[in-house]
Amino acid sequence: MTAAPPGGAPEPAPGGAPEPAPPGGAPEPAPPGGAPAEPARRPDRAFAIVARRLVTCDPSRASAGDPLGVIEDAAIVVRGGAIEAVGPRREVLRPEAGVPVAIEAAGVVTPGLVDGHTHAPWVGSRDAEYAVRMAGGDYEAIAAAGGGIVASMRAVRAATAGELAGALRARLRRMAALGVTAVEAKSGYGLDEASERKQLEAVAEAGRDARLPRVVPTYLALHALPPEAGGDRAAYAGVVARSWLPAIAAAGLARYVDAYIDRSAFSVAEARPVLERARALGLGVRVHVGQFADVGGAELAADLGAASADHLEHVAPAGVAALARAGVAAALLPVASFTLRQEPPPVAALRAAGVPLIVGSDANPGTAPTESLPLALALAVRLYGLTVAEAILGATREAAAALGLGGVCGAVRPGLRADLAVWDLPHENAIVQPWGAPRALAVLRDGEVIAAAG
Ligand code: NIG
Ligand code: FE
Repeated sequence: MTAAPPGGAPEPAPGGAPEPAPPGGAPEPAPPGGAPAEPARRPDRAFAIVARRLVTCDPSRASAGDPLGVIEDAAIVVRGGAIEAVGPRREVLRPEAGVPVAIEAAGVVTPGLVDGHTHAPWVGSRDAEYAVRMAGGDYEAIAAAGGGIVASMRAVRAATAGELAGALRARLRRMAALGVTAVEAKSGYGLDEASERKQLEAVAEAGRDARLPRVVPTYLALHALPPEAGGDRAAYAGVVARSWLPAIAAAGLARYVDAYIDRSAFSVAEARPVLERARALGLGVRVHVGQFADVGGAELAADLGAASADHLEHVAPAGVAALARAGVAAALLPVASFTLRQEPPPVAALRAAGVPLIVGSDANPGTAPTESLPLALALAVRLYGLTVAEAILGATREAAAALGLGGVCGAVRPGLRADLAVWDLPHENAIVQPWGAPRALAVLRDGEVIAAAG
């Protein structure tokens, strides 16, 4: 990739490699330990990106043989942070248009990746638990003995709001470096009113920083039962539905409400009132379903018109059919099933039923101690048998749609925001290889570079 800021010569990169300079100037360095400064917004700035290969994920360009709608030797015109034009370079970049080329990508460009399922606002590490599990320890047994989610709860409760927000910002910056421009972020490690709120306030604070991926907040108070609830799941869920959730909704701190429905978590009967209350309050619903056992969560998700049913390692054909009928997307989380040594969800049945497939990182300190959506893509292809196109769509257009961002990002088409990943890779096939290292040269949100290699 070569890149020249419009109106300025490209800066020579240290070491001689072409600098992936941001269009319009280098991002200001983040002050050590603090939030990055807000970049100067240039509302009318127009520039072009040219790419040897552009994966648009635009359904109007897709066909059976080309589900990703690829354009070779492509150009994207960005104006005021939005995508104005997309097409073959020779058609889009007419000299008379006078739009400077800011980035010349020698490899593949995709929509910025969208991580549709994360528990990003956490602090602390459960590495001791991980080692025990890798030596044969059982996740549910560890949780029943007071570890697992409740261990992270203790860390989150002990953290100041600033520590939590700082950890989240740092995590989102690392996610951006991996090509990610939008992230769903759940609470669920507070498990009391104030601590759940502290998590969502950290998400809201991150959401005000345009130099981070956009964030979609989800309220997951029904993630585990806190010790002070004395084992009474129904009573805990009742307080959440009647009191905590309406306050969160009134404060505008959540767009979705999630519940962990499973044999050692909440039952359908316990979760239903909370999720119904969420709907009544105008919030969307997404549900952890069938991670360890099918206890009817998929049917509940279908019943409530959930945006997604997530995990699904254990779901019967009736549950798959219910999801398909209701148009609920399946969020596949292969990093979690990898660490838990589980069999994949019934991907062939979900595909055959026409259930939209999302791939998420499930970033969390327990089952998926990762921040890498590209790692999840690699495992989705290797372990779940997704095609490359299914994996890429599951981390772009399908994820954006399931987060209510279908009109904002997830594809490269006119009218959407210019959220883009410029890869140091020649082809989308290479994106799903298990690099274990960032391979994005430049990551743009709203047409501004939020991460760059080097
Ligand atoms: O999506 N299983 C429920 N929730 C998370 C794990 C949370 C944790 O272990 O901290 C998941 O896998
Ligand atoms: Fe999860």
